[in-house]
Amino acid sequence: MMKRAERREETSEERQMNLNASVAGRMNRFATLMFFVFAALLIGLPAARAQQSSENNPPAGNAQNGKKLFMSDGCYECHGQQGQGAAQTGAARIGPPQLSYDGFQTYIRSPKNQMPPYTVKALPDQDLADIYAYLKSIPMPPKGKDIPLLNK
Ligand code: HEC
Repeated sequence: MMKRAERREETSEERQMNLNASVAGRMNRFATLMFFVFAALLIGLPAARAQQSSENNPPAGNAQNGKKLFMSDGCYECHGQQGQGAAQTGAARIGPPQLSYDGFQTYIRSPKNQMPPYTVKALPDQDLADIYAYLKSIPMPPKGKDIPLLNK
């Protein structure tokens, strides 16, 4: 009788141990999973950051072709031949562009006010990159103090 009770005690202890073991096993699996999550983050974050900075750098564009597109796509009609902007149309100076390439692209795809939107169909990404390269090549206008005539 006593022995039986002892044995039963043992088995419930065993059961407890088995339970502990399975909890430990689950904890182990959790730790392993977390390890991989962290590893993925460690590897993934710099990669994501690198991708982001490549987005901020304009894609390679052909400034000469961009100049042609600036005319043929009608940008000049509102922004002026040099992208200098025009009071009559209310179009901002965009040569050289003050926006990052991302901002530039976003704006042209969905402008806020008067400017008509240019879809990817009308103006493919590569054309846009060429126009950006062209606008980047335009110097800022000189400041008054840098114009010799005005310093006489
Ligand atoms: C019909 C006139 C018109 C045409 C065509 C046009 N724009 Fe504009 N654009 C504007 C006006 C007006 C603004 C000022 C903000 C507004 O009203 O949307 C503007 C603003 C912009 C801006 C934002 C400037 C800033 O710094 O905030 C960019 C960039 C731009 N235009 C690029 C272009 C490019 C590139 C083209 C040709 C593919 C083009 N625009 C064609 C009228 C025009």
